[in-house]
Amino acid sequence: MVSRVKGAVVRGKNEPVSIETVLVPDPGPGEAVVDIITSGVCHTDLHYQQGGISDDFPFLLGHEATGRVSAIGEGVTEIEVGDRVILNWRAVCGECRACAKGQPQYCFNTHNATQKMTLEDGTELSPALGIGAFIEKTLVAAGQCTKVDEESDAAAVGLLGCGVMAGIGAAINTGEVKRGESVAVIGCGGVGMAAIAGAALAGATTIIAVDIDAAKLERAAHFGATHTINSREEDVVEGVRALTGGFGADVVIEAVGRPETYKQAFYARDLAGRVVLVGVPTPEMTLELPLLDVFGRGGSLKSSWYGDCLPSRDFPMLVEQYRLGRLDLDAFVSERIGIEDIEASFERMKDGTVLRSVVEL
Ligand code: APR
Ligand code: ZN
Ligand code: ZN
Repeated sequence: MVSRVKGAVVRGKNEPVSIETVLVPDPGPGEAVVDIITSGVCHTDLHYQQGGISDDFPFLLGHEATGRVSAIGEGVTEIEVGDRVILNWRAVCGECRACAKGQPQYCFNTHNATQKMTLEDGTELSPALGIGAFIEKTLVAAGQCTKVDEESDAAAVGLLGCGVMAGIGAAINTGEVKRGESVAVIGCGGVGMAAIAGAALAGATTIIAVDIDAAKLERAAHFGATHTINSREEDVVEGVRALTGGFGADVVIEAVGRPETYKQAFYARDLAGRVVLVGVPTPEMTLELPLLDVFGRGGSLKSSWYGDCLPSRDFPMLVEQYRLGRLDLDAFVSERIGIEDIEASFERMKDGTVLRSVVEL
């Protein structure tokens, strides 16, 4: 039986978010229907509205969500009806060359539900990142559901589904930050703050937050920053070197996604250090660096997709760190809003006044 529920849809480029009736089919083989409890508002949702991700309008927005499984399709064994889950946008295939090498976190063939959710007139919807979570119920591939502890606050842990995982994973998985290391994070939005929290969780002892916004830097200490640099006022490379015995940080995480901040990251790291790019650039951006410096400084230049996370491994582990009081996910939840308030929350996101607005369904 098809369910008729309310969801937040964008019908065309730069059109406002509208609340529409969406038809959600029963789950087919390998699929699940999840009743959404909360879903965070991410920059990617705004990019979908602006046509920056694809032209496959209409989109069903939302993808950083906690929910409860309400139906499963044939052959689904990894989750059961009633499970509390966090949704992920990289359900691994288990068969591609990355999975075959035992590196499913890099799976090159991740998948979503096969069936489509539609508007009442039959128009097929494109769910954001294959999820679509600003809706009372959504249809996903069962592998997009990761079961987590019942007790955790839905709004807080749901953020692990995207931006917060990207930041923490950039530090822990991609950067492989170790106890006692120094880390600099350039850009302290939701992703950068999470990278700071991830570096702290991994035991880094010098954590330098870099931003152009003094208010962001003020908050960074809460997530574990030991020092701050306002890059409007101070040279980042000199500042990071001064705080690390003159050498540069072991790991520098770029969480803006721009060539100038990438160059700062490149030169603010110690010889043989690691640079992690988790900020997402736009197609016209290019990078120019002296090749001799790339060679001569050694170390590694890495990119971090979704924090190189494996949801089944990382989500429950991080929910447990949260439960133990070592990771303050609550501090990422700036406000709780209704489904009607998404458009207005985009404005607050653009102003940088919120880390995350979370929609309660
Ligand atoms: N130098 C330092 N910080 C900067 C600079 C700069 N030149 N330009 C912007 N920033 C800071 C902003 O002040 C803000 O605090 O970077 C931060 C970006 O934060 P958000 O806009 O909240 O973005 P966030 O959600 O953290 O995502 C960061 O990761 O996933 C990607 O697409 C996302 O590219 C984006 C990046
Ligand atoms: Zn795979
Ligand atoms: Zn996101």
